[in-house]
Amino acid sequence: MADTLIRDNEGVLTLGGVSLPRLAARYGTPLYLMDVATIRARLNAWTAAVPAPNEVYFAGKAFLCRALIPLLQSAGVGLDVVSGGELLTALAAGMPPSRITFHGNLKTIAEMRIALAAGVGRVVADSDEELVRWDRLAAEAGRSVEVWLRLTPGVDPHTHRYITTGHVKSKFGWPLEGGAAEAAVGRALRLPHVRLTGYHAHIGSQILESRPYEETAEHMMAFARAMHTRYQFWPRYLDLGGGLGISDSGEEAPTPQELADAFSGIVTRGTPPGERVPIWAVEPGRSVVAQAGVTLYRVGVVKRAGDGTMYVVVDGGMGDNIRPALYEARYRALPVHMASGAPAPVTIAGRYCESGDLLVEDAVLPPLEPDDLLVVLDTGAYGYVMASQYNRVPVPAVVAVEDGTSSVWVEGLRWDEVHARDRAAPWPS
Ligand code: LLP
Repeated sequence: MADTLIRDNEGVLTLGGVSLPRLAARYGTPLYLMDVATIRARLNAWTAAVPAPNEVYFAGKAFLCRALIPLLQSAGVGLDVVSGGELLTALAAGMPPSRITFHGNLKTIAEMRIALAAGVGRVVADSDEELVRWDRLAAEAGRSVEVWLRLTPGVDPHTHRYITTGHVKSKFGWPLEGGAAEAAVGRALRLPHVRLTGYHAHIGSQILESRPYEETAEHMMAFARAMHTRYQFWPRYLDLGGGLGISDSGEEAPTPQELADAFSGIVTRGTPPGERVPIWAVEPGRSVVAQAGVTLYRVGVVKRAGDGTMYVVVDGGMGDNIRPALYEARYRALPVHMASGAPAPVTIAGRYCESGDLLVEDAVLPPLEPDDLLVVLDTGAYGYVMASQYNRVPVPAVVAVEDGTSSVWVEGLRWDEVHARDRAAPWPS
């Protein structure tokens, strides 16, 4: 939960010192809210846990807009991007290219050229084709490119299968098993405009155990040693990805400090005599921004279904938060005003034309009425960035709060913009 989400003396919820009804009146609903203090605290927890020269990169796919970049920079955190859009956002906001790593299992030639022209720090290559393309494009640009190889360590992180990435069937990277990763190292070392400096692994997201991370670090170090013997190549960097979960339904996530201590030990112990200990890196996304976010909705309808289910229907839903429908993700909701009356089970449903558009199926809330406000908690990661315009409902604004003030980070789509990009029919009506 956001660090600053508290009730004032009248029992009204406030975030960052700003009352939520005031925010609803000023910006409308639905509304994404980001608590800056929570983001700062989570970034600091990571940088405090990861001792220099090791590095923290925030995974921009979890949440990104221009206003986030200065927060990353003041925390000394770099950025992981996966598309030209994310890269251009970061560059537009003044992120030094050297602090950016460029990921993704398909980078288009246009995106690769943008990255090269900007002088992005490192690129994380994902396939043989991509390695060859980097070599060719770097040669054309008259330079070389620093590359890390995305490897798939075959570790099961015990999370939802849609957000598991390190298993053997994964579409990402080269599997450590079966010789593909070894061949990729050989290839990268032979390409004249590719400078191989590191390995990368990311095993999945919303991970609540330390063991899969330790196994990943161990497998990666064992692979690095095997490649040291095979090619006399020792990596300067080892990026162990992101994926640390946030505690939900009572399960506790490991802390950044616990992970960092484990990584430090495994990487140091796994380094052969005479070689430098690789600089290791992490790429947290969700653990930085998820709890900073809440989504503010207004109740539109309260109704009982034929089976007795009590629906509280709000003015947003799967367009602003696809995660319950896509991953069966569970959220908690709170009424904005301290309501009287006995709490009872309700289902918080969205306004989209789909039965599966349910935001919280097992809420227990005091009686709510049309026009009441409610918040869904911990929506700061993979909410706004995965928003859609389904049913032509405009994507809400993102507003940040800190120390009693609010500022717009991303404007919501206006009604007149919903069809602004449509062309009129080319035939007469
Ligand atoms: N690094 C790489 C290479 C990644 O692919 C990801 C996430 C991260 C870091 C950050 O992972 P995090 O710390 O945020 O878990 N849309 C899904 C999550 C997809 C994650 C994709 N990769 C969801 O809403 O749960």
